[in-house]
Amino acid sequence: MRAPLSLPSSTTTAGGLTFLLLLLDLIPTAATVKHENFKTCSQSGFCRRNRAYADHVLSPDNAGKWVSPYEIKENTIVLQNGILQADILKTVPGQSDKIILPLSINFQKSGAVRVTIDELKRQKRDIVLRGDSKARKERYNEAERWALVPDWDVRDDKVVYDNRKGQITLTFGPGLKYKAVVDVAPFSVKFERDGETHIVLNDRGLMNVEHWRAQPPAPEEGKEKSSEDLDGGWDETFGGNTDSKPRGPEAVAMDISFPGYEHVYGIPSHATSLSLKSTKGGEGEYQEPYRMYNADVFEYIVDSPMTLYGSIPFMQAHRKGSSVGVLWLNAAETWVDVVKEKAKRMIPMGGAKTDTKTHWVSESGLLDVWVFLGPDPQALYASYGALTGFTKMPPSFAIAYHQCRWNYVSQDDVKDVDRKFDKSEIPYDVIWLDIEYTDGKRYFTFDPLTFKDPKKMMKNIDKTDRKVVLIIDPHIKNTDNYPVVEELKSKDLAVKDKTGGIYEGWCWPGSSHWIDAFNPAAIEWWKSLFAFDKFKGTAKNTFIWNDMNEPSVFNGPETTMPKDNLHFSNWEHRDLHNINGMTFMNATHQALEARQLPKGGTQRSFVLTRAFFAGAQRLGAMWTGDNEAKWEHLQAALPMLLSQGIAGFPFSGADVGGFFGNPSKELLTRWYQSGIWYPFFRAHAHIDAKRREPYLLGDPYTGIIREAVRLRYALLPAWYTAFHRASQDGMPIIRPNFVVHPDDEDGFSIDDQIYIGDTGILVKPVVHEGVDKVNIHLGDGEVYYDYWSYKIYQGKGAKEYNAPLEKIPVLMRGGHIFPRRDRHRRSSGLMKHDPFTLVVVLDNKGNAEGYLYHDDGESFNYKAGHYVHRKLVFDSATKTLVSSNLHKDPVSAEPYNKEARPLQVEKILIVGISKAMKTASLAKGKKTKVMVTEEGKDRAVSVEYNAAADASSADTLLVKNTKLRIVSDWTVHLEKAEGDVAKDEL
Ligand code: GLC
Repeated sequence: MRAPLSLPSSTTTAGGLTFLLLLLDLIPTAATVKHENFKTCSQSGFCRRNRAYADHVLSPDNAGKWVSPYEIKENTIVLQNGILQADILKTVPGQSDKIILPLSINFQKSGAVRVTIDELKRQKRDIVLRGDSKARKERYNEAERWALVPDWDVRDDKVVYDNRKGQITLTFGPGLKYKAVVDVAPFSVKFERDGETHIVLNDRGLMNVEHWRAQPPAPEEGKEKSSEDLDGGWDETFGGNTDSKPRGPEAVAMDISFPGYEHVYGIPSHATSLSLKSTKGGEGEYQEPYRMYNADVFEYIVDSPMTLYGSIPFMQAHRKGSSVGVLWLNAAETWVDVVKEKAKRMIPMGGAKTDTKTHWVSESGLLDVWVFLGPDPQALYASYGALTGFTKMPPSFAIAYHQCRWNYVSQDDVKDVDRKFDKSEIPYDVIWLDIEYTDGKRYFTFDPLTFKDPKKMMKNIDKTDRKVVLIIDPHIKNTDNYPVVEELKSKDLAVKDKTGGIYEGWCWPGSSHWIDAFNPAAIEWWKSLFAFDKFKGTAKNTFIWNDMNEPSVFNGPETTMPKDNLHFSNWEHRDLHNINGMTFMNATHQALEARQLPKGGTQRSFVLTRAFFAGAQRLGAMWTGDNEAKWEHLQAALPMLLSQGIAGFPFSGADVGGFFGNPSKELLTRWYQSGIWYPFFRAHAHIDAKRREPYLLGDPYTGIIREAVRLRYALLPAWYTAFHRASQDGMPIIRPNFVVHPDDEDGFSIDDQIYIGDTGILVKPVVHEGVDKVNIHLGDGEVYYDYWSYKIYQGKGAKEYNAPLEKIPVLMRGGHIFPRRDRHRRSSGLMKHDPFTLVVVLDNKGNAEGYLYHDDGESFNYKAGHYVHRKLVFDSATKTLVSSNLHKDPVSAEPYNKEARPLQVEKILIVGISKAMKTASLAKGKKTKVMVTEEGKDRAVSVEYNAAADASSADTLLVKNTKLRIVSDWTVHLEKAEGDVAKDEL
């Protein structure tokens, strides 16, 4: 069931009864999503209209005849300061007046381009609203405020303009490599890079801007209705809720083609494959478009284009030799059709024989498309990230293991779980409290009976440097004697209904109001609520989980808010729905960063959100919502998380174990073996699920999970380094095959194996029942080694790997170096002073390189340069491993270098040593020492050579107890082990 039937005390009232009925209605009969609660395209007026429009335009009858009714009025064209402006005229059948749609094409220095189309009448507020609506008259133009970084607008002022015979060519971007070719009539834009077309807007003529019109009177009997009387354009009822649509029909639609591209990725969140399927039928394909309308789709089904909790309207198209992308910057309900067609012409340099054609439709707002021309995944993510922001550098505990369930019911329960983790020697960092910790679902309170002394609880947890995450949702209980709701009302900071009165709906607490986090005053107020002296019982180690922020409203249409609700400055909810969750997360993030610590200063926030939009990566982490304890959901998780990384929000996880239901021991074990590779790693369970903390399973399961979690902890320095990279240039933390091997066409749709950052670690978790073998796809001819046995895997293509229950299929690609910490501790905080191990994995030529990023893991000092960033290079020519400084401003690093000076590299493990040097003397034990040079001084350190078990495995060299510092420049000279070093030096 959806909710526990411990009903609020108000159930005796009439409202309470409705709530009870509502809850009963929300209990699914079978453990699957209630499809009827959510619209299909044909049940959503604007989607239905625009799909019909597309069908009409593309019908064989219209082939070669259709002319898109949009054209640029030539004498309005102006190019100034990197922006081309013009009016697009829309011809409406039977009307002589044309609709004026102001166009702007903004060219950025990075090469990104923004194409925005507005509506003049709406800009001028020259429209009449239906009913007594107080809604804004303009098209919503504030999505950029939330999605884009404040200083995004860096114009390219060197755009070269050429206008010939109805075609405007604009040459722009770094090195003038890019071209936008604008056709005046009908309007379309082709984007070229190096002479090839990569993206075309309005290629198929499906552009449609539903202009404002007065509602035509009902047709007289026997007469046809006016062409302006659009199907579903006025009041629309679904599931008993009527949407009043004060501005009538106002959708925006555009088709976007990617010629020569067979694969498109992104537009999370959907429980679907990474490479997006077609949506217009066909074997194994979908019938429905991908939908983006953030919603509480509990018990969601997998392999579906249905909407989920969050939306990022960013899509990447990829082919051999090229990656490009688009951001559809619109926060209203959006549907995307994807079709793949035989390419019209061959594209050189690996162009596919297929074109992917997409069709985007949003209910309201601007038509606002960003185009990114790559040329490769790395450049694409960097330019998208420069615009929407890179992932936030989290506090270091946040990438360790999180233990959650709905609910740890009391302080004693928390203590008991904490103790049992320690007893079973399984590390964990964070214990989570779900909604039952509150006093009757009043956020910012603790239940006085079960959590009598929360401060003490925080203190106990802090003894092992652990944290507590508390849930705080955006619905505020509508009840007496609750200061939070009183302030929300008296300060007028809540979301309004269509009449302008405070909106009331139902969620966990029963009757509730919703904070309107679009309102700057609401953010300020929210910040005040989290101060340690205000939110009593919280401490430095308390962090926050924001759930139900789509927002989830149990009695609302599609379990969310009515679209005609009003937000700050009277924007309709319809316009900004998909941003709503992110504004709440933003308020909480700001609140946590504003908390003044007892010893002074502030610390990094950690906020987990369920709803999100482009840009939310700047604020914290997300998870994929209420999945199920089923193998299909374990399988669905990795593609979903990979998609998050593509769309710039890599700090993502899925509930380990599955939220609903009870996993078998095998499923739970396999889920941990998979979950340790999620950027956000949290186990969670529904209130009705049986307890399943890993120590409860018994052996061998508990032991296997212990080893898995320990592996996550050992690799935390590598994860942290990968987070740092993502925070700098947007490279995903977990990467699919096509990102690592962008030319490996066989691997473009692989989404069940991942690479971890730049480590070269390649994992293919077992996600099927009873399976003890997997095929790992190698995307290139490089040498790969088994993580555990150093067995060699080589040769492009599938390689069989034995994976009995106790084994996670993990390979290391030759050519990489990654850091590890090998001591077992109870929490990541307790590993703070531990030494590092460097794993050097030699490639076919005996070379390798890698990175180590390190900082204090909690403060903002890293922004002032207080961090360590090293590049590590193993060179087979000189037989040296060199650590050099990558710090951008080494002088600013000095204070932290002093602090981090005690941190040492304990061991260096070189895998495949014979790739770099003859090992005869090492093998015979003649050379047991090598020389290291650090800060100008030489000294000898011991090495241990381990011959390969057999010809199919690698030999290794272990450099022991090196005492090298992570903060200093040093070199390990292996050659000198082979006889060059004078005896007395060693
Ligand atoms: C929602 C969340 C789930 C949480 C529950 C109770 O269903 O998705 O994670 O446990 O609410 O707060």
